[in-house]
Amino acid sequence: PRPILLTRHGESQDNVRGRIGGDTAISEKGELYSKKLANFVGKRLKSERAASIWTSTLQRTILTASPIVGFPKIQWRALDEINAGVCDGMTYEEIKKNMPEEYESRKKDKLRYRYPRGESYLDVIQRLEPVIIELERQRAPVVVISHQAVLRALYAYFADRPLKEVPHIEMPLHTIIEIQMGVTGVVEKRYKLMD
Ligand code: F6P
Repeated sequence: PRPILLTRHGESQDNVRGRIGGDTAISEKGELYSKKLANFVGKRLKSERAASIWTSTLQRTILTASPIVGFPKIQWRALDEINAGVCDGMTYEEIKKNMPEEYESRKKDKLRYRYPRGESYLDVIQRLEPVIIELERQRAPVVVISHQAVLRALYAYFADRPLKEVPHIEMPLHTIIEIQMGVTGVVEKRYKLMD
């Protein structure tokens, strides 16, 4: 059975500063991850000629994919991170301080909360539908390099996790989640390549 490899981008400048959203490049640590990932993918998918690498349209995923050679790369807007609307570029502390009602509503119902002029987790889940259809249609392995909220939604779909858990699933940086769909169900492996 063909694997699907899910990973967040390498650490970004915004991750370092604790800012959400944005479109910053990756940090030095993030670059190190991109190299380790390329090495891992090269070995894991050595004889898989039809494999492909899917990224979002944001710099941090494209840069993370860049050291991977020998496989076609496809950019999907649907793999872009949750749109934080008016909160894009802020830290959680800033949101709490400057927009306490927004902060509280999100905390109360993170799944349904929609950022003003942005998206909710439910919106993200909906826009991922074409990506999921395409992933299920693939016969060859796919490496998906995306973002925290999007990967929570994708992972929950394949691992059959309930909707209400989606926004709270742990999705660490610098870790590959490998999913294999077999006859007996889903087999999952995790590879933490660095801290
Ligand atoms: O902090 C990284 C990030 O990808 C942000 O860009 C995004 O808003 C956030 O994670 C999503 O996680 P949460 O829904 O827990 O805020």
